[in-house]
Amino acid sequence: MSGGVELTRALDSAPMSIGPPNGPLSRILDELHARFGPTTDGQVASYIPELASADPTLFGLALTTMDGFGYASGAAATEFTIQSVSKPFVYALALADRGMDEVLSRVGVEPTGDAFNAITLEPDTGRPLNPMVNAGALLVSSLVDGATAADRFERIRGWLSAFAGRELRVDEKVFRSEQLTGDRNRAIAYLMRNAGALSGDVDEICSVYFRQCAVMVTCEDLATMAATLANGGVNPLTRRRVLSDELVGRVLTVMTTCGMYDHAGEWMLRVGVPAKSGVAGGICAVLPGQLGIGTFSPALDATGHSVRGVLACNELSTRFGLHLLRTAGLPAHPVRSTHRADAVSSKRVRSPRERRALSEHGAAIVVHELQGDLAFGSAERLSRTVLAHLDGVRWVILDLRRVGRLDESAVSLLRALLDELAQRGVTTIFADPKGLAGVGQLLRADGSTERVRDAEIALEWAEEALLSTRDMQTLSPSAQVPLGTQELLAELGAERVARLRALTETRAYDKGDIVFQEGDPADALYFVTRGLVNVDVVTSGGGRRFRLNTVPAGSAFGELALIDGGTRSSRVVVAEPTECAVLTVPAFEKLRHQDPALCDALFRAIARSLSARLRQATREIQALEA
Ligand code: DON
Repeated sequence: MSGGVELTRALDSAPMSIGPPNGPLSRILDELHARFGPTTDGQVASYIPELASADPTLFGLALTTMDGFGYASGAAATEFTIQSVSKPFVYALALADRGMDEVLSRVGVEPTGDAFNAITLEPDTGRPLNPMVNAGALLVSSLVDGATAADRFERIRGWLSAFAGRELRVDEKVFRSEQLTGDRNRAIAYLMRNAGALSGDVDEICSVYFRQCAVMVTCEDLATMAATLANGGVNPLTRRRVLSDELVGRVLTVMTTCGMYDHAGEWMLRVGVPAKSGVAGGICAVLPGQLGIGTFSPALDATGHSVRGVLACNELSTRFGLHLLRTAGLPAHPVRSTHRADAVSSKRVRSPRERRALSEHGAAIVVHELQGDLAFGSAERLSRTVLAHLDGVRWVILDLRRVGRLDESAVSLLRALLDELAQRGVTTIFADPKGLAGVGQLLRADGSTERVRDAEIALEWAEEALLSTRDMQTLSPSAQVPLGTQELLAELGAERVARLRALTETRAYDKGDIVFQEGDPADALYFVTRGLVNVDVVTSGGGRRFRLNTVPAGSAFGELALIDGGTRSSRVVVAEPTECAVLTVPAFEKLRHQDPALCDALFRAIARSLSARLRQATREIQALEA
């Protein structure tokens, strides 16, 4: 088109990551471009003289994803004037400035089934029928806050730019061309003013509206503007919130019912997504939660919509089933797995008594691992699952690690579930590593809910609560557990323990000290006689550390040193001031020569402890695979 400077996004924009050029979506856009490019149907708009010189063969397609990837084909970087595609965005600005009630009292939201420039107003009041037709859009632009017309326009330009993620400019030629010839719009404005619906200077109001229509965009910009709506009001390129979630819903509503004027019904039937078109050839279509689509091709059909744009949107929707009212079927169950603490316990090393208590009574703790986004339907299924697993349960752990988000309906349904659980004396613990929005609203003041960082901590917390109800308070960190009462040495007898003690050395550690880490030589066995340590490892990719064990006083760690030597495969960090009786490999070698029977007994004890741990691991794998 005239003035269609090839302004690429890179010049003055938020960075757009480009999707893989030979990825499936790029290929499909290129295919649509090749398929619909040759059509000769349609005519460029000529009622604004400057638009008549547009090249009818131009055709651009663009998509922007929710995480800010752009796909484009054809004339995607060619600028053209936004025209009516500005209307839903300026409507959003008026709603933000004036509130819904005031805007609704001035502009209706009923589809007209008429053309964009129809002279149809409410009979007595002169109120325009909706904000997508010219009458409504003129009135809406007069509602935008600003001391002067210039201020109002500057706010509109800045607002459209925030949606596009770059500074947009006006095509002065197109503006002047419409300013000189826009008598029909002026007439509509005068009619509305005559009826008392519009107040202010008609020329000024029209000139703000004509400038708004002459803002230059590319179809990549339209895709990003659509993606901002699809993304709940946050621009996926700049990551800035432009519009509240609530106003996004209102804007998409009018785009759905009125965006395509007298073609709106058929558009919804065939394409089925909120959209808006403009006479310069742009279409902006929104696939909520997924994509923004922008197309550009100046040749228009009889209802004023871009021929190639409609064909491309139609094809995309048909091929990928994008129609909003199409149901996706039953989503994955929100509960990925359920297990109880008698089968799967926390990583805290327990005394034999505690282990017995947990295997006898651990069924009072149930862990549900959740997945996906929680909305009304999935929250209902989750509630049913939780209630179906309540026999003998006193603690319910909801592991939210794999949950993306909780929407408002999920929050309110889960609040009702928590009322029920609290009434039954059940404590609910949210394991919420991501700090999901909405979880705060689930926490209750009566102590029947807890929120902790992860499922491991939640399980340990519930185990502690369970053990304390059975008079088995965990040892205080300052309690001493001498070698004679260490679990590993329980069968050795006092005299052998005394001989062993003579070979150990005492080491003291402060909180945060590292006893050893990965790669260190495995050169000693540690009996914890006071305090607490955590054993952790790094995930295979090196991304994050996770806890393997928590070892309290009375338990040992590092025993593999005596068996295969080599280097340490995990790290031990001191959680509370700790004291250990340490049997080094050289001391052990001495023992081997001096007292082979004691050495044998120690080996048997280590083997028994390892085999008990292996059996427990097998049981946990069975429970988790179930
Ligand atoms: O008001 C007008 O006539 C133009 N400035 C905008 C019209 C428009 O884009 C209609 N949409 N398809």
